[in-house]
Amino acid sequence: MSLLEIKKLTKNFGGLSAVSMVDMTFEKNELVGLIGPNGAGKTTLFNLLTGVYVPSEGTITLDTDKGPVVLNQKSPHQISDLGLTRTFQNIRLFHELSVLDNVKIAMHSKKGVSLWHSLCRTSKYYQNEKELSEQALELLTLFNLQDKQDVLSKHLSYGEQRRLEIVRALATNPRILFLDEPAAGMNPQETAELTELIHKIQQDFNITVVLIEHDMSLVMSICQRIYVLEYGRLLAHGTPDEIKQNKAVIKAYLGGE
Ligand SMILES: Nc1ncnc2c1ncn2[C@@H]1O[C@H](COP(=O)(O)OP(=O)(O)OP(=O)(O)O)[C@@H](O)[C@H]1O
Ligand SMILES: [Mg+2]
Repeated sequence: MSLLEIKKLTKNFGGLSAVSMVDMTFEKNELVGLIGPNGAGKTTLFNLLTGVYVPSEGTITLDTDKGPVVLNQKSPHQISDLGLTRTFQNIRLFHELSVLDNVKIAMHSKKGVSLWHSLCRTSKYYQNEKELSEQALELLTLFNLQDKQDVLSKHLSYGEQRRLEIVRALATNPRILFLDEPAAGMNPQETAELTELIHKIQQDFNITVVLIEHDMSLVMSICQRIYVLEYGRLLAHGTPDEIKQNKAVIKAYLGGE
């Protein structure tokens, strides 16, 4: 099976079907785009895949070392432990903590030292803290945030906060990374740099990246495949070239003819 398969996935809010009978597959180590007009259901789909919402219908199945696991009823925490991590459309950081601590907290959630070692400040605690700091700094360096490690995250520029969000997500060592509009609000140069970085992490970290993005040049330049949603339904699926020429997609984006 594919790394992640969703079948007939549906989420109803009262009378509104935000996601409706959607089938998708995601393979190991690929970069997939998810596009569609405002309100198409993109973020809702991420919320379903990461356990924020329970599906109304359909199945989400992840291929793991121990065989296929259905994620439908799992909590966000369980799903994160299985290697699915996301960033949010609205940045979510610990504003009063340093950049480095923001990353270390994300790592702690994955491989913490026991409470006993932490409370007693044992040598194991210090050893672990040192390793975490080193790994965090490595990630920050990759995203050119190493000089900001001691700065409170609220004092970062907007683009830097977006990059820190991605670093925090990567710090959990994911198998699949879901990025919800990572370039939103960035200037063209920041967007171009981020595009390269996303491509690089997908290759260097050997992970699957699913990218929601309104910036078409970003999506078209790095994604291998693209899914298009409209009104909660799957409108089209294909390579960037196929999507660019797809009449239904052009109509959904430009309206009319
Ligand atoms: N918790 C909720 N309760 C009720 N309706 C919701 C809820 N979450 C999303 N919706 C509705 O579901 C639809 C899809 O919303 P969603 O946020 O998934 O769209 P999107 O594709 O991410 O849009 P955008 O590009 O603007 O971020 C919208 O009509 C939205 O109003
Ligand atoms: Mg959204």
